[in-house]
Amino acid sequence: MRSITPGEIETKDLHQFILGAVAPRPIAFVSTIDDKGVANIAPYSFFNAFSSNPPVLVFSSNRRVADNTTKDTLHNIELNQELVVNVVNYSIVRQMALASISYPSDVSEFSKSGLTPLASETVQPPRIKESPAHFECKVSEIITLGEHGGAGHLIICKVLKLHVDEAVLDGDRINPHKIDLVGRMGRAHYVRASGDNIFDIYQSVVKLALGFDELPPHLTNSTVLTGNDLAQIAGLYEFPTDALIQELLMSNDVQEVLIRVEAPDDTMLEGLHKLAKKALDEGNPEKAFGLAMLYEAIG
Ligand SMILES: Cc1cc2nc3c(=O)[nH]c(=O)nc-3n(C[C@H](O)[C@H](O)[C@H](O)COP(=O)(O)O)c2cc1C
Repeated sequence: MRSITPGEIETKDLHQFILGAVAPRPIAFVSTIDDKGVANIAPYSFFNAFSSNPPVLVFSSNRRVADNTTKDTLHNIELNQELVVNVVNYSIVRQMALASISYPSDVSEFSKSGLTPLASETVQPPRIKESPAHFECKVSEIITLGEHGGAGHLIICKVLKLHVDEAVLDGDRINPHKIDLVGRMGRAHYVRASGDNIFDIYQSVVKLALGFDELPPHLTNSTVLTGNDLAQIAGLYEFPTDALIQELLMSNDVQEVLIRVEAPDDTMLEGLHKLAKKALDEGNPEKAFGLAMLYEAIG
């Protein structure tokens, strides 16, 4: 491991380690308005949602590392405490990149990026029509994190109204493939959150699963099963039943493994773990656990 102490490397390099490791980050495409009515839009990936009741979003507008200047988004919010957080999906990602350019404050990035302003209902700054979800917000607090280049200003935003494009909804839920969001990573890297990039984990956060410490060492020390494989077994709630063990013992796959060995040994263990891995790949952790536990049943 490379260990880094903040302050002992240049801020620009520390910044890149943070961006590379704290990733992917969602992107707040923030609309604000100045005192002359000029609308400003800019992307902010030091961003997340932190509360649902009350609904609160937070993003950070940082002092530029190069010259310690602050940004128009922050100036506008200090003036009127109003903004819209628009989300960024794949279809507007390049227009978002255009809007991140530091145009003078009297230039609206709406014109530069070709995106369309859409009137908000509760705040002055317009929404971005092409974005599939908009959060109209009032700023409740700005927390200044430092005075030097790279220092953030945490902008704590209370959500007044949320708009979601019907086209990305399945009933009352957002379909991730339809909304097709993008995330920011380090350097010039982005990630697209749809298609094969999305996978599901069904693990209850309230039901108490067995956990790794309940699994026998012949399983946790496996040379075949990975941490992710074992976690699917450790995520079960009970050990395999005798009936399952007996059923598996009679199966052709298991008999093939057993026929090649005389007593429980590493070859048999490896053979059973390979079958367990196959069961996991087929989405059957109960069967995988049963196969792995045959080692004890036979021994
Ligand atoms: C994807 C993306 C994410 C960004 N995230 C941040 C961020 O979290 N904080 C920040 O200060 N600047 C961030 N920037 C840079 C600002 O968008 C950029 O400085 C912009 O010019 C600020 O515009 P403004 O002065 O109109 O607010 C990001 C840029 C991009 C392209």
